[in-house]
Amino acid sequence: MQRFNIFNQIHKGLRALLFDTALCLQQTDFTNEVEAEEALNKVRETVLLFDEHAHKEDKYILPAISDFEPSVMDCFEKEHEKDIMLSNQLTASVETFFLLTSPTERVMAGQKLSIAFMEFTIFNLQHMAKEEDLINTILWRYYSDENLVSIQHQIVLSTTPWLMDFYSKWMLRGINNAEATCWLQSVQQTAPEVVFQTLYSKAQTELSPGRFQKVSDGLLEGVLTA
Ligand SMILES: [Fe+2]
Repeated sequence: MQRFNIFNQIHKGLRALLFDTALCLQQTDFTNEVEAEEALNKVRETVLLFDEHAHKEDKYILPAISDFEPSVMDCFEKEHEKDIMLSNQLTASVETFFLLTSPTERVMAGQKLSIAFMEFTIFNLQHMAKEEDLINTILWRYYSDENLVSIQHQIVLSTTPWLMDFYSKWMLRGINNAEATCWLQSVQQTAPEVVFQTLYSKAQTELSPGRFQKVSDGLLEGVLTA
């Protein structure tokens, strides 16, 4: 039986964010102020969303495994500390960039930032894969899918709406059509109408017209067969 993967949707969103930012950094001419500012903003957004995500896992997921596997919890807490150290490095590079005035210095700072971002990306890709392997194995051993959905629900409720808006954008960009349909269906069934309408409009903005059509068709089929 396929179990509920509490990390699936958020990690897909965060990976989409990493890949998008990494590509933007590759394509940025750091001597161009507008392009540089756009790239720096993407790095800021990445750092913010990864930091918040690590806090949520420290608060809601790691405590769920601490009684059963304290050493695993300890190991992941340490990884989150390393993640914060890598984030701080990125923030320092971003916030000092415009102190540099010459084009040569900016190109070099852009290269340094890109390398720091690659290190951040590699670390987080491995970290998320490890969470989906090791932590899921423990969660599935000790908790039902209903328990896990309830933990996910607590995480969503504890996330401020403006941050949820950012996460929703990246999750929509990162997940497949069936997952998007399923997400919309569950919001439609469990949340107030306005929450569903906001997510539905966001899906229309974030997905290509072809993908949005498939997701809408799937949603309608679900309503007709319910
Ligand atoms: Fe995670």
